[in-house]
Amino acid sequence: MKIAPSILAADFTRLGDQIKEAEDAGADLIHIDVMDGRFVPPITFGLPIIEAARRATSLPLDVHLMIVEPEKHLKAMREAGADSISVHVEATPHLHRALQEIRALGCRAGVAINPHTPAAMLSEVVHLLDMFLVMTVNPGWGGQGLLRETLPKIRQLRAMASDIDIGVDGGIYPHTVKDVLAAGANVLVVGSAVFGAEAGISTAITTLREAGA
Ligand code: DX5
Ligand code: ZN
Repeated sequence: MKIAPSILAADFTRLGDQIKEAEDAGADLIHIDVMDGRFVPPITFGLPIIEAARRATSLPLDVHLMIVEPEKHLKAMREAGADSISVHVEATPHLHRALQEIRALGCRAGVAINPHTPAAMLSEVVHLLDMFLVMTVNPGWGGQGLLRETLPKIRQLRAMASDIDIGVDGGIYPHTVKDVLAAGANVLVVGSAVFGAEAGISTAITTLREAGA
């Protein structure tokens, strides 16, 4: 089980310190949500924040592109410091080519899949993938509740590929960890329950690990 804190919920006035604290507490990846106001309604941030995160940590940076025409931005994301890049299956008619390009850039390739999209949409690109990123909420906002109807899809993807990472993104809290792990996920993307936790980042990560033990 890997924990990927999502900086969407971080305090951006102290971003470097917050990332460092997550790293010291045993985070495995840092998840970075790029939103364009088109694929999803909100706009978050882009290259300067990825570059800043790159300077703040040696952990792999896991960039989740919630943008249309993601293929236009892959090289820039890599150059800014991305170690893995996930594009949405719903955001490009040329998913196969986009995944080839991500790997050619030297990144791990991921594909994110919205709650309404069936697992079968990914059946022909499994060989190009290092990670499925199952959206367990509708993308665009942190702090939402996990959609339990996405759990069967995690099982289907796990049956499709036993050796690929399966990330779950959205609504992951100590009380939802067991269910997503049981369904076959092994990477927990967590925003609110890490950076928004009253107990602090470090305790929050320990609590998530204990919940999954
Ligand atoms: C949602 C983003 C998530 C978000 C998760 O569109 O992709 O990564 O940060 O936030 P929580 O953990 O608060 O649901
Ligand atoms: Zn995300």
